[in-house]
Amino acid sequence: VNRLPNWVSPLQKLEHLSEYLGVDLRVMRDDLFPMTGGGNKARKIVKILELAQREGCNALITNGGLQSNHARVTALAAVQMGWRCHLILHGDPEDVAQPKGNFLLMLLAGAEVEIVSPSEIGSRMTAARQTLEDEGFRPFEILGGGHSLTGALAFVDAVQELQNQCLRDEWQPQWLILASGTGTTHAGLVVGLEQLGWSTRVVGISVARKNPRGRDVVMQSYEELRSHFGLSQPSQEIDFRDEWVGEGYEKAGPDVLKAIRLAAQMQGLILDPTYTGKAFAGLLHLVGTGEIGKNSQVLFWHTGGLLNLLASHYFRDFEQTL
Ligand SMILES: Cc1ncc(COP(=O)(O)O)c(C=O)c1O
Repeated sequence: VNRLPNWVSPLQKLEHLSEYLGVDLRVMRDDLFPMTGGGNKARKIVKILELAQREGCNALITNGGLQSNHARVTALAAVQMGWRCHLILHGDPEDVAQPKGNFLLMLLAGAEVEIVSPSEIGSRMTAARQTLEDEGFRPFEILGGGHSLTGALAFVDAVQELQNQCLRDEWQPQWLILASGTGTTHAGLVVGLEQLGWSTRVVGISVARKNPRGRDVVMQSYEELRSHFGLSQPSQEIDFRDEWVGEGYEKAGPDVLKAIRLAAQMQGLILDPTYTGKAFAGLLHLVGTGEIGKNSQVLFWHTGGLLNLLASHYFRDFEQTL
């Protein structure tokens, strides 16, 4: 895949927000990861493709919603490799008829798209594999969201990029806040930081799942990674907060909308209502309650989501609720 050689997601100081919040706030710009739309799923797919290549595959199959960032990066990466790509998607017929955001890019990239109901995903994945094999291809199946040990390892690696920039800036985060869904981004960062011996407190803000299930899922990835590296007992609890889920996945409550507006209008930092807006609302709350103390060194890991914002009818669906 066309990853820029030696790519490093920029670590930037958020001057205005830092002053406003009374903390030293910086952002890791994984939203700029060099694949259209960027984000944590782009970082994961690069690593997943390395594995697929080693296994001699030449086609990709995965699933997700119409606005899945993971399905979009799978489609784009497959084109770059010259591979076939089959996507099993679910979503509203109205949205299927008017492609926007990630779904538009998947179609534009020429992925084979099948729209199914969520209950059919498993059987359609199996059928797609069979069809591709019958045609002589060697498909690589990726779980929804790129959920895998390999995906998590991409974020253990990403900590290296962070560390190099922190050394340059003579800065180290005491807190790291990120949007957490399937949990592999969250777990990878925790393990990467542990390997550095940094005591950064990592807080994952749920984009969909409630606790205890949400935390358990991240914990599973965390344990899988620890056993991969032969590490002993987990050294910390996974901190997974579900207060900003609102009415669920792709639904944003007033706190989230306010957080999106604040970041855009105070800093020109663009967040989205599905993922990063929730995480940033969580960050604002933790600072507001004093759990993150004044002058703390705080890192916001920006996982992407611009296409989700652009597909969201932000003003029609959200702003009027404020
Ligand atoms: C923009 C964005 N941020 C965060 C997440 C959550 O990442 P993970 O599934 O690794 O927890 C996702 C997942 O879809 C995402 O697309």
